[in-house]
Amino acid sequence: MLSILSFSLYFALLSNGLSFTHAVSPKIAVAYFAGWHSTNSTPTFSVSDVSWEKYTKLTYAFAVTTEDPGQLSLEGSAGENLPSFVEEAHKHNVSAAISIGGWSGSRFWSTAVGSSKNRTIFVKTITDFVTRYGLDAVDFDWEYPNRQGLGCNTINDNDTANFLEFLKELRLDPVGSQLMLSAAVSITPFSGPDGNPSSDVSEFAKYLNYITLMNYDIWGSWSSAVGPNAPLNDTCAAPANQQGSAVFAVKRWNDAGFPLDQIVLAVATYGHSFSVKKSDAFVNGSSTELAAYPPFNASAFPLGDSWDTSAGTVDFCGVAQNNGGNWDFWAVVEAGLYDQNGKPAQGVPYRFDDCSKTPYVYLEDREIMISFDDPESWAAKGEFISDMGLAGFAIWEAGGDYNDLMLDAIRGTAGFEDN
Ligand SMILES: *[C@@H]1O[C@H](CO)[C@@H](O)[C@H](O)[C@H]1NC(C)=O
Ligand SMILES: *[C@@H]1O[C@H](CO)[C@@H](O)[C@H](O)[C@H]1NC(C)=O
Ligand SMILES: *[C@@H]1O[C@H](CO)[C@@H](O)[C@H](O)[C@H]1NC(C)=O
Ligand SMILES: *[C@@H]1O[C@H](CO)[C@@H](O)[C@H](O)[C@H]1NC(C)=O
Ligand SMILES: *[C@@H]1O[C@H](CO)[C@@H](O)[C@H](O)[C@H]1NC(C)=O
Ligand SMILES: *[C@@H]1O[C@H](CO)[C@@H](O)[C@H](O)[C@H]1NC(C)=O
Repeated sequence: MLSILSFSLYFALLSNGLSFTHAVSPKIAVAYFAGWHSTNSTPTFSVSDVSWEKYTKLTYAFAVTTEDPGQLSLEGSAGENLPSFVEEAHKHNVSAAISIGGWSGSRFWSTAVGSSKNRTIFVKTITDFVTRYGLDAVDFDWEYPNRQGLGCNTINDNDTANFLEFLKELRLDPVGSQLMLSAAVSITPFSGPDGNPSSDVSEFAKYLNYITLMNYDIWGSWSSAVGPNAPLNDTCAAPANQQGSAVFAVKRWNDAGFPLDQIVLAVATYGHSFSVKKSDAFVNGSSTELAAYPPFNASAFPLGDSWDTSAGTVDFCGVAQNNGGNWDFWAVVEAGLYDQNGKPAQGVPYRFDDCSKTPYVYLEDREIMISFDDPESWAAKGEFISDMGLAGFAIWEAGGDYNDLMLDAIRGTAGFEDN
């Protein structure tokens, strides 16, 4: 099947004057491996639990930035498992990457690239790190250039320009020139000096192999109603509910000059839960049909699954957290809300939103509504990846699935059946 397809594609592209290499360039099937779930968590998801043969690349999360551009830290990421992660990846012919930053680890990204001197030091820090661990790729997860994330990150008007200068310098390095480089980005292009999304990010495409659009956390405890965590589409939603989506993000980045075949869609194995009264959860007069975008109690922070952050945890800014409310797909199945085949369980109030292509379930006894992605959501996202000619998918996170139900769904429609 694949060879027939490649053959006809070859001639189609030849007649368009395009190169053959482009036609067969492999698609990217990547997942983040959250180091902290590989030890001291319930359940654990270790290096030997990864379905290596279904990926082209795995990314270890995270090496975090520190005050000193000369230092990256694996604190909190079970760094002792990084060597076996790389070894296992290479045994399976899979690229091994480190991701730098993350939501909690981007405090000093701005510092690290803030001056010519710091950039030179940071390039050496990264190339030394890569050499020490035998890595093939680096992912830059800066949340976010010239835009506050965690709350206490250093930020600077020139972050985006400094990031580009840093990438140029990294590419001039003999180690850096050989690496597969990616950036995990928000749904709008990197912020310019005025704080608004840049209108032209095409230069980044020369130095990065691809970007990963983090199309999740679009709706959550900070929103005005219960909405989709990771909507595929939102242009089909009511105007007030158009808060971003994969369709929106791809358009914004592509309009700013980033090529479609260098865009990877990131997909989430987790969803968010909300405290919703029965009287709001159901359509009036029904005891089974869930209401769309119902209000929720914004002062109640229901605890999610056993991987969730619980209330009182102090973040890197020194701020005490509420419960995170996150539910991983494995937990949705284990709680009996979905069956072993990844379908909604009989008798559980459920709604599938056709615009975002995401499901909702309701736990009547606890008055909690969960918005998440299921295999059907990921099959739709895979189709979108294929239809748009995107480079592939990136999963946050490898351990969040249940028996590869979601992974198999997206591989099936995005075009990875033959891998
Ligand atoms: C490893 O993957 C590359 C392309 O991704 C392929 O060319 C090569 O044959 C593979 N090697 C093995 C041992 O599977
Ligand atoms: C460069 O790094 C040093 C720490 O070594 C930091 O104090 C300084 O603020 C950084 N420079 C910029 C412009 O961010
Ligand atoms: C940004 O860069 C410009 C030009 O190099 C410089 O004049 C300005 O001081 C920088 N702004 C900040 C906040 O560092
Ligand atoms: C998104 O919604 C718009 C408006 O309904 C529709 O035209 C478009 O085909 C949708 N795209 C996808 C990928 O669902
Ligand atoms: C149910 O009806 C009440 C009163 O008419 C209205 O305020 C509320 O928005 C309705 N709820 C839903 C979910 O339609
Ligand atoms: C919302 O949740 C808070 C915290 O659990 C609770 O004290 C409050 O009574 C709830 N509000 C409503 C309207 O149910």
